Amino acid sequence: MHCAGTWPVAACTDITVIISWWSHVETAPPDAILGVTEAFKKCTDPRKVNLSVGAYRDDNGKPYVLNCVLKAEEKLASENQDKEYAPISGIPEFCSQSIRLALGEDNAYIKNGAYATVQGISGTGSLTIGARFLSAFFPGVKCVWLPTPSWANHAAIFKHSGVEVKQYRYYDPKTCGFNFEGAIEDIKNIPEKSIILLHACAHNPTGVDPKPEQWKELSQVIKSRNLFPYFDMAYQGFASGDIARDALAVRLFIEDGHKIALAQSYAKNMGLYGERVGAFSILADNKDEAACIMAQLKIIIRAMYSNPPIHGARIVTKILSDPTLKAEWFKEVKGMADRIISVRSKLRDNLKQEGSQRDWSHITDQIGMFCFTGLTQPQVEKLTKEYNVFLTKDGRISMAGVTSKNVDYLAHAVHQVTK
Ligand SMILES: Cc1ncc(COP(=O)(O)O)c(C=O)c1O
Repeated sequence: MHCAGTWPVAACTDITVIISWWSHVETAPPDAILGVTEAFKKCTDPRKVNLSVGAYRDDNGKPYVLNCVLKAEEKLASENQDKEYAPISGIPEFCSQSIRLALGEDNAYIKNGAYATVQGISGTGSLTIGARFLSAFFPGVKCVWLPTPSWANHAAIFKHSGVEVKQYRYYDPKTCGFNFEGAIEDIKNIPEKSIILLHACAHNPTGVDPKPEQWKELSQVIKSRNLFPYFDMAYQGFASGDIARDALAVRLFIEDGHKIALAQSYAKNMGLYGERVGAFSILADNKDEAACIMAQLKIIIRAMYSNPPIHGARIVTKILSDPTLKAEWFKEVKGMADRIISVRSKLRDNLKQEGSQRDWSHITDQIGMFCFTGLTQPQVEKLTKEYNVFLTKDGRISMAGVTSKNVDYLAHAVHQVTK
């Protein structure tokens, strides 16, 4: 029915017309991290420090574009490639290089073609493809168990994909370390044939990773419960500086007979944040099973975004398939990891020099981009209010925001609020 007058219309003849389609939509809280960054930008104190952002910064606090990426881009520019759509599952060479990077060249699944790998929209998009696949096809309990705490987006991704979310113990606030006994106890009680999410390395937000012997035990318990391991590997190489070492858990689980799912991201380890390039893989019993999985993954992707973007994936493919560029990448990723490891030591040493009596060993025990400092919410508030050091309320700091220039000031400020 057509009613005269300008929109919105209140009512018209015998039917009620909706005045606004969206008046029932309530506002939602802004992203916690973006809120901290906004406050940082407004602050005029020259000593201000932003420790909330999960992106690498060089020792001058500046974003860093890797040289191997610049060189790969130069090569790509000279090739004048077209901008046609990539296949739904992504650039084939990219997928093949990605699975090799994660599992290692000698992996039997790769040799037998018993895997399905697709390109995804960075780590988030790759995780989402996996979550949707599990939601549609997982033959067990459609419930994923996340570590407590986990990257905040994990719960949202699985819930939106129709997978129930539950949690197992992981972080121990008393030690600022791994609650190994708690995790094992909880995992032993997870219903059989459920999904368990594991951070492959550099756990976000805590920076706390299991030790190799603990991974071994976790693998055995997870196997004995018949759980399905879904690895999120967003930081391969970025944690220790060594690609193979950071893949230890993934490779160990596979050796132990787990057929895993895996989400990869090149945001951190290649600094390709905004290029949104990642991969999702599932290991299968054989080639035919892998082909069926691949067919279904394509249907999921087709409905999400049809085909993945090409530029970032071309950069990654160039780097991983050119031995010189790959060697340069290994050096650069180690350089980033080493810088983080060195500012962890400096921060810990400086806190001691400031006279802090507290045990800060967790700063150097933890690994990767983040450090769960153990600061309480009032301490965090004081740090921000009185010292203009900006971080999330949970006391997590991005070590990438710590530099040789601000580490003295940071240690001083942290000591003042914790003594
Ligand atoms: C644990 C974890 N998984 C996945 C991601 C995904 O990041 P992106 O989508 O930028 O690759 C992140 C990023 O912070 C992360 O910390």
